[in-house]
Amino acid sequence: MEVFPVNQYDPLMPGIVMAMVAIVHVFMAQFAVGGGMLLCYFQWLAMTGRCENARLFVHGYFKWLVLISFVAGAATGVGIWFTAIQVSAPTIGQMIQNFHWIWATEYLFFLLEIIAGYLFYRYHERISDTACLRLLGMYAFAAWMSLFLINGIISWQLTPGGWIEDQSLFAGFFNPTFWPSTLFRTIVALTLAGLVACVVVNTMKELDQEAKRKLINYAAHLLVPMVAMPFLGVWFYFMMPTDSQGWVAGGSPAMTLFLNIAVGASLAIGGYAFVGLYLQKLYINGATATLLLLLAFGATAGGEFVREGSRKPYSIRYWMYSNGIFPHEVAKMREEGCLADDPYPLRDGTPVAGEITTRGAKVFRRQCAVCHTVSGINGVSELTVTWDADQMRMNIAKLQHTKPFMPPFAGNAEDLESLVRYLKWFDERNDEEAEKPFEEATLKTNQKWLDEAGTMPLSLPGETSLQAEEGEK
Ligand code: HEC
Repeated sequence: MEVFPVNQYDPLMPGIVMAMVAIVHVFMAQFAVGGGMLLCYFQWLAMTGRCENARLFVHGYFKWLVLISFVAGAATGVGIWFTAIQVSAPTIGQMIQNFHWIWATEYLFFLLEIIAGYLFYRYHERISDTACLRLLGMYAFAAWMSLFLINGIISWQLTPGGWIEDQSLFAGFFNPTFWPSTLFRTIVALTLAGLVACVVVNTMKELDQEAKRKLINYAAHLLVPMVAMPFLGVWFYFMMPTDSQGWVAGGSPAMTLFLNIAVGASLAIGGYAFVGLYLQKLYINGATATLLLLLAFGATAGGEFVREGSRKPYSIRYWMYSNGIFPHEVAKMREEGCLADDPYPLRDGTPVAGEITTRGAKVFRRQCAVCHTVSGINGVSELTVTWDADQMRMNIAKLQHTKPFMPPFAGNAEDLESLVRYLKWFDERNDEEAEKPFEEATLKTNQKWLDEAGTMPLSLPGETSLQAEEGEK
């Protein structure tokens, strides 16, 4: 397998950099999808005479939609590719290899979205109402198709399902979490569009309070599907791999925290929408609407973190580990070392003491750097600060047992020793200690620990790591 080195952004961890770009993009993209649907609704309200200011609103809102979805959405979309190839080129490689036709189709829909959007933007004042509705319908359909297609690929990473057996495109695309997540994201898209509408209405100076309140109450209709969210959430949960369920349900405090943020923020929005907008038909001012939108951003961030985080130790469940190593490669790498096919030098200026620490730094980059920094966010030198060298050797040799959301160590006894020397050197800066020749006895114990750890991940389909750990005892 070809190696593509992880770009390290210390003190930020690559996964966090990826998550930041991805969360902003997902937020914008989902808004673009919901925005298209909302505009169709308001165009229809205008054409049937149900809401007198609907037409004015459509024209005002569309400018925001174009600005956000064409400019910011497209820029962060490119940003995702740019970041992803630096963080996990092997994962992106798999996504493209298996789903190139899906990506190609998605680009066509994106093109259609841009064309329909541009035509509307340019000509909406000169063409008939029906033509406007058709363009908006085309825009909304194309935008939603992008969501549909990309979500197939994204959800495949978490639950590849039957694809694992035969790599069939159909099984991979319509994987176990495909429908719950597609429907869930569609509802999120509608919610975001409704909340943005509340902000936009507040900026329309030409309207009086009563006219604004009416528009806001129509926009709130887009929040009604939120009632289905809990059911879709539960459906999604039951389709997740058993092990990932374990993480979010308390096995990993960070995952549980992010899940709680997502659920809490969604409940707050839903509760406000139900009581304020539906029961009492209140007017929301710009500040409240912005606050609700921020909550929605928090919910998106929490949700995406859970989806990303619960894939550990895989980037494609049961197929490829987060560090780009395939499970079937581990045994071979235990023999040949993990740098046999890694020709890349360290980046200029990486602090090392000599040959052994250089090797250690490369082992770190190959196996640990996607999820850790050396000394920063999730920094290994901080995590191991109380361990002596032997504890480090053993716990890293048995990585998947140390924490079951880490993959097994995929190198030989010398790789392990170099990594430990590098991490120790990073704290102590004792060049002589770090670069002294390897001792036979140490390598032997390293090998013993590696053999004891085995080359398999701790949890296999159908059980949680916690259950696997208990079975071991
Ligand atoms: C799939 C992502 C991932 C990979 C790859 C990974 N780790 Fe981790 N590791 C984690 C997470 C998440 C934690 C939990 C951190 C915490 O508890 O705050 C962790 C914890 C640790 C800890 C602390 C364990 C403890 O008992 O407190 C050490 C040490 C560690 N990792 C070392 C490594 C080393 C060395 C490598 C590379 C050989 C590596 N990890 C690869 C995700 C990963």
